[in-house]
Amino acid sequence: MPARSWRLLAISALVLALAAAGYVWVMARSTAQLDRKYPSTAWTAPTQADPAAVANGERLVTVTACGVCHGKDLTGHRQMVGGAPIFAPNLIRSARKLSDAEFERALRQGIGRDGRSELAMPSYAYAAFTDAETADVLAYLRSLPVTGAEPARGGPGLRTRIAMAIGTYRLQADRVAARKVPLDAGPAFAQGRHLAAVACGQCHAPDLAGGRGYLGPDLTVDGYYDLKGFRHLLRTGNGRSEHDLGVMALTSVSNFSHFTDPEIDAIYAYLLQRDHLLVAASHKAKP
Ligand code: HEC
Ligand code: HEC
Repeated sequence: MPARSWRLLAISALVLALAAAGYVWVMARSTAQLDRKYPSTAWTAPTQADPAAVANGERLVTVTACGVCHGKDLTGHRQMVGGAPIFAPNLIRSARKLSDAEFERALRQGIGRDGRSELAMPSYAYAAFTDAETADVLAYLRSLPVTGAEPARGGPGLRTRIAMAIGTYRLQADRVAARKVPLDAGPAFAQGRHLAAVACGQCHAPDLAGGRGYLGPDLTVDGYYDLKGFRHLLRTGNGRSEHDLGVMALTSVSNFSHFTDPEIDAIYAYLLQRDHLLVAASHKAKP
């Protein structure tokens, strides 16, 4: 063989060896994260599963948009995460299968029944649910007649594993632990802050600052949305701009339109106050 062919062969072998080593490294690092077990915690639903709890649970499941991933009827739905299918399970079956503590861990801590972290369930937002709300959501799901199949779970694809290995994709239990909560604007704005945390945090980040890999932008409203426009957005999905707001529009129509007027107003009042506080803080920072 001429020298050039030998050289080509050697280079190809080197490239292949490097790719194989990279693959082994990615698989080892991501598997170590996926296999990590998180300590279990005890939790018992603090309230009775009475009709009021069930009704409140239904309302919460609607406005916090569980159906975006678990399917409109909550019987499970396929998600694409980094190009690979993951199934958001059938919540009606899950609620009966899981103990109170297992349900709470899945919802608020991002930890599955086997003690490993969840991959795509946005517990970093639902961590803000109170004990009573968590109990109400559970009571509602357990009140539904069992229906639908239990689809296979699926797992992370190579793209997600690479992102995990290099540290750009974090597992949900770690996101819950590291999350920043929305800016505290005092008791007068507490209700709006709470509703925004559980209903908007899923896409706009747990601190509502958006970006950084989250789908939605920072939730600034000052100078952009007045109360009337904001109500219109959450009820109809039509925003100020001409362009279709996509998942924001769809979620508004099927979920946020179920907020009461005072709830929407409370969210708006909080977001506006948050803007004012952020501006005041930035002025202080550069005198
Ligand atoms: C962004 C998509 C998404 C949203 C929104 C979402 N989930 Fe999930 N959820 C998932 C996925 C995916 C899983 C499977 C676990 C994982 O992430 O690896 C899951 C798992 C769960 C589990 C564990 C089920 C089991 O059998 O182990 C529970 C309980 C759960 N979700 C409840 C909820 C509730 C209640 C809501 C609304 C308050 C909700 N989820 C909203 C994606 C989502
Ligand atoms: C399922 C994901 C999702 C949820 C949940 C969600 N948003 Fe959004 N939101 C988005 C996305 C994505 C955009 C960017 C849309 C675009 O510009 O195409 C957006 C944009 C917005 C905008 C800017 C609209 C504009 O005119 O540019 C506002 C305001 C907003 N969201 C408010 C909220 C509020 C308030 C909540 C909670 C009640 C919420 N969103 C919950 C996904 C979501």
